[in-house]
Amino acid sequence: MPALTSIRTSAGKLEIVDQLLLPHSTEFIEIRNIDDAFDAIKSMKIRGAPAIASLAALAVADHLTRALESRPSPEWLGNVDALKQHVEGVLAHLYTARPTAVNLGAATRRLTKTLQAAIDAGRNPLEVSQDLITEAREIDAEDVGRNKQMSKWGGEWLVERVKGDGGSGAELNVMTVCNTGSLATSGYGTALGLITYLHETGKLQRAFFTQSTPYHQGSRLTAYELQSLNIPSTMLCDSMVGSLFQHHNIHAIAVGADRIARNGDTANKIGTYNAAVLAARHNIPFIVVAPVSTVDLEVADGSGIPIEQRPPIEACLVRGALHPFALDGNGVKQQATVMVTPEGLEGVYNPSFDVTPASLITAIVTEKGVAVKKDGEDVFDLTPVV
Ligand code: MRU
Repeated sequence: MPALTSIRTSAGKLEIVDQLLLPHSTEFIEIRNIDDAFDAIKSMKIRGAPAIASLAALAVADHLTRALESRPSPEWLGNVDALKQHVEGVLAHLYTARPTAVNLGAATRRLTKTLQAAIDAGRNPLEVSQDLITEAREIDAEDVGRNKQMSKWGGEWLVERVKGDGGSGAELNVMTVCNTGSLATSGYGTALGLITYLHETGKLQRAFFTQSTPYHQGSRLTAYELQSLNIPSTMLCDSMVGSLFQHHNIHAIAVGADRIARNGDTANKIGTYNAAVLAARHNIPFIVVAPVSTVDLEVADGSGIPIEQRPPIEACLVRGALHPFALDGNGVKQQATVMVTPEGLEGVYNPSFDVTPASLITAIVTEKGVAVKKDGEDVFDLTPVV
């Protein structure tokens, strides 16, 4: 099985794996310009909050690198005012590709800051561009390290918590939602990183994951990642979470996040809230694992988080390979998109995310540590972990 990655850069080429085709074919698409990056994010060929932020940053780096190498130079490289106007326009455009994942906004804000700092320092257009390229590549590069750190914090915290509840802290069963692994980040993952950490340290018995309809991030992507990591796992339909909690000993639910409000309310893949309500009913710890860049301190609570509505058609379709597997002339499994609703269906509700209130969350883990609520409180003080 090829090593899983969402983005690769080699020989001056920026490429992403087309996640709409996984797990049946691994096809890389070149991102040649800002519009390609925008379209790939909007159409969910790449998805996952940290991965889309990394791609946006790398697309800006690539765009500036090409401009510096092109002869004649584009006009907007002629002076810093024109450069500023151009880069700000590019960043604002990229930011609109998907509204809920704040990492994208954090990346574009960070690059805007770098741009202004370089201009304030009196650097010329060439130097300003180079500062932006360095910062953009750093946004991508720092992701893997912080994922490993938060996975370790969260994994260690969970083991201690289970021991505190009278368990052994080994042989844990952890359920997750959506896909938060290497495909959703620049590597290792957040909630799936925590599960991987438990597996690597001999503490995991089994990972459980929901299909995560309608895009099927669970059944297509998380299943594939867990297989490639040789982690024992079981898939369930989204409607089976209550049954799982009734009939199996599940020690925790670990999920990622697209935006965490100042009080800890968390937007994540649709279906996360259902799992949190059921986890509370069954007294199972519910853990959110995400980088600091997912925390939006400017939003006081979940009511201020914009929720992306996806096109209705996406909830009416299932995408996959023909079965029994039909191969094309090159030995590649043939893909199909199948309509599962009657033609002309009028009403379709298709929010991409929901908000889990802080009151249902046991711990929020970032690369800086683990936050829990004070006794009797319903909201988090995230100050120590941001
Ligand atoms: O719509 P998606 O697939 O981009 O949604 C992804 C999620 O909800 C993830 O849980 C979140 O982005 C965190 S990924 C580390």
